[in-house]
Amino acid sequence: MHAALLQERNKSDSIMTVKAGTQTSFDEANATASDSTSNAWLFFKRWLANPLEMGSIVPSSPALCRRVLRAVRRAPDEFVLELGAGTGVISRALLEGGIPPEKLAVVEIVPSMAAWLGETLPGTNVIEGDARDLPSLLPPGLAGRVGTVICGIPLVLLPLAEQRRFITAMQAVAPGRGFLHYSYCVTSPLPAAKHGLTAKREAWTPLNFPPASVWRYTPQA
Ligand SMILES: C[S@@+](CC[C@H](N)C(=O)[O-])C[C@H]1O[C@@H](n2cnc3c(N)ncnc32)[C@H](O)[C@@H]1O
Repeated sequence: MHAALLQERNKSDSIMTVKAGTQTSFDEANATASDSTSNAWLFFKRWLANPLEMGSIVPSSPALCRRVLRAVRRAPDEFVLELGAGTGVISRALLEGGIPPEKLAVVEIVPSMAAWLGETLPGTNVIEGDARDLPSLLPPGLAGRVGTVICGIPLVLLPLAEQRRFITAMQAVAPGRGFLHYSYCVTSPLPAAKHGLTAKREAWTPLNFPPASVWRYTPQA
């Protein structure tokens, strides 16, 4: 799959940031696209503002990004949909791993981060909004054509009913596909059976702060 992805890599340099049909510009983080692309300062500021929504004090490490990339499955015409893209470290690993920019869609709820993603991820689909609203958030043509959903939103901290809202939204746009979810938990961050899912830990790395696992959740047969 890796070679095929590399072959179809697209070097488009247009920027698409979607927010209810309007363009968003990056202006909040005292940083520009020429700054370190992980923008750890913006990440830290958002953690101070809302630690539960961020779930981490720093962006994911390169080691975790590589493990997420390895777990991605998609046919050449399918999208990868990343939820909670933050400052885009996983998004960039996906692009470097050969996902064509136009086949990557990232969703981020924090406007300044979504604007940063729009500045630094040329050619991708950057969507500012709440992942619980995925079915209405995605541009036409994307829903139902998603190979892998990657959920970076810290679901473990949420009550069961809230977790279900995210899971329902993901299942609506990627029926039958399940999703990847990275987490710092030693055991499954989601009570899989209660959500009608099967959980499998696909990878673990100590080279992240804190050490992290990549889980794959699939609908129970
Ligand atoms: C643990 S951080 C992951 C950031 C990045 N993917 C990384 O690996 O460094 C979680 C991200 O999810 C975003 N987020 C939280 N709730 C969200 C929601 N309901 N919809 C979309 N994004 C959300 C946060 O703003 C934050 O950027």
